[in-house]
Amino acid sequence: MTKAIILSGGWGTRLRPLTCSLPKTLIPVVNVPVVERQITLLRSIGVKEIVLAVSVMSEYLKGYFGDGSSLGIKIHYTNEENPMGTAGALKLAEYYLRDDNFFLLNGDEIINFNFKEMLEFHENVNATVTIASKTVEDTSRYGVLIVNGETNRIDRFLEKEEYNPPKDMIVPMPVNAGVYIFEPEVFDQIAPKKKLSIERDVFPILAREGCLYNYSLKGMWKDIGTPLDLLEGNILLMKSLIEETAGKEENIIATSVQFEGNTTIIPPITIGEHVIVRYGCKLGPNAVIGDNSYLEKNAMIKNSIINNKVFIGENSIVEKAIVADNCRLEENVELKGNENALVILGSSVHVLKNIRLISPKDQHITYCHHEVVRRSID
Ligand code: GTP
Repeated sequence: MTKAIILSGGWGTRLRPLTCSLPKTLIPVVNVPVVERQITLLRSIGVKEIVLAVSVMSEYLKGYFGDGSSLGIKIHYTNEENPMGTAGALKLAEYYLRDDNFFLLNGDEIINFNFKEMLEFHENVNATVTIASKTVEDTSRYGVLIVNGETNRIDRFLEKEEYNPPKDMIVPMPVNAGVYIFEPEVFDQIAPKKKLSIERDVFPILAREGCLYNYSLKGMWKDIGTPLDLLEGNILLMKSLIEETAGKEENIIATSVQFEGNTTIIPPITIGEHVIVRYGCKLGPNAVIGDNSYLEKNAMIKNSIINNKVFIGENSIVEKAIVADNCRLEENVELKGNENALVILGSSVHVLKNIRLISPKDQHITYCHHEVVRRSID
């Protein structure tokens, strides 16, 4: 096994407006694009060639990764003019992947678990496809695996809408984590040039044939499908990266960050390269701040993601919000989301001074790239 394919061509509709100007898989988690973290992980277990299956905003991904040499790996691209579905995208990569088994990853997942152990499992049980699963209580957004507890064979693969247990019988179930190992013979099951889904069109057949297996992953897994997932995923990953320092660090702060003074930090926080933090800022807990951002005097940021080159004006407050690249918040701005609804600014949004954006209970407040916010919502 030296190859992998990463699906990276979906529309990412649930993450709009963030995905209006950036493909979902290039969205940073703890300041590194989610798909770059996957590529680095694959490289660390000896994968040498990766196919990026791209479609929507493909030029961004090609521009960012090129031929992969800067990451020490060979990257090929298959390009769908319009998304062909997960199986349609896989079929296009047959030329690169026909000769050996390979990993397939959904490119929108934060993962950190033992891929080698998964491969050993796959080879031991002689599976055609192994699906990594995580057991969760709320299965409503995932494909559910009905697994034979003794053999780990998947008897049935049920897509989201097909699994509806009665309310009083809800128990944690293994769900599809979007990380797979495939044997190349699966290509024979996928018709060429058709829009097809692995989950709907391929897995149910393989489950009936008895060659689909479940691997329960032990470690970190979180998809970034929705804004709340993205925020939670950043916080989880930040905590797990800090844990890896075994007590040496409470935060991840680049050495190039300039603090003017009197900063209050409540861990954990992350601050990227060349950020300027002016006098009296209050940061954390759970703040991720990207490279080249500028925090004016007394700015407050908690439970939020601020991407690169963002300007936060004097006395401004950011809480339960996601602020994309190049946004500018003038002085005395307040962005305040809550447990269920965030404030989300697409790239280059400009919020004028004294504006307050307070999310209602269950609805995100969103602005598309380059919008100017002149009116408060509170
Ligand atoms: P939503 O529109 O919010 O559902 O997002 P999405 O379009 O990305 O779909 P989903 O979350 O189901 O996708 C999971 C992974 O598969 C993501 O990494 C997508 O980029 C990728 N993906 C989904 N559909 C396609 C497709 O048709 N072609 C390719 N190449 N990748 C896809």
